[in-house]
Amino acid sequence: MINFAELGDLVKSRRSIRKFQDKPVPEGTLLKVLELATWAPNSGNQQSWRFWIVTNKDLIQKMGEAVKAKTELMASWPEAKQFGETVGRWRKTSDFFRGAPACIIVLMGKYSSIADQILHARGEKDPVAREIHSYRDTGASCLQTVAAACTYICLFLHYFGLGTTWMAGPIQAKKEIEALLNVPPEWDFVDLIPVGYPAETPELRPRKPIQEVIRFFR
Ligand SMILES: Cc1cc2nc3c(=O)[nH]c(=O)nc-3n(C[C@H](O)[C@H](O)[C@H](O)COP(=O)(O)O)c2cc1C
Repeated sequence: MINFAELGDLVKSRRSIRKFQDKPVPEGTLLKVLELATWAPNSGNQQSWRFWIVTNKDLIQKMGEAVKAKTELMASWPEAKQFGETVGRWRKTSDFFRGAPACIIVLMGKYSSIADQILHARGEKDPVAREIHSYRDTGASCLQTVAAACTYICLFLHYFGLGTTWMAGPIQAKKEIEALLNVPPEWDFVDLIPVGYPAETPELRPRKPIQEVIRFFR
């Protein structure tokens, strides 16, 4: 068993990294990390995730262009004006992953529990079934499953001195990224994790005091 204090140091020293050295990421390390990440808890142990590793510079640039185009489109809408300089910063940073030597594309698969199957069979006619269905959608198990793996991936890569940022933002170019990578229709692109040796040491982003986020029911 590893020492809890060392585990704490590892967890607390991880930062989201958005600037990378121009140095390739060893494939062996990526494979080791992704294999260990597949031990994350996941719904029904169906492991409905896929991790595609993109190191092809041209593809990374094309994904970046697709994300940037969507950012520019949304930033041009009159509704964006009220957000002032925040929009300006977003325009500069939404495609920062272009500077990474590798990107992990996280794909989410379908997951159907016994509850889902019963609800599906019952159909939309029963309002109680509809309500339960909407709760299940809110906390979709398939999304929770890939999130568990993403947490592991970012942490384990940090163990090897590699920087990452867990990015949900690129989903704005879902259609374009799926087309670029030939993602089969039964899979959904949900997250992009740029990986590389850090070229920055970001400030620690403090967490809320624990008393603010927990509650006991004794
Ligand atoms: C679900 C999720 C989505 C995120 N999406 C983005 C993103 O699109 N772009 C980005 O720059 N950071 C993204 N982040 C990173 C967060 O901004 C970051 O984790 C948070 O500010 C805390 O900083 P830290 O990771 O350095 O502790 C995301 C994180 C999570 C968990």
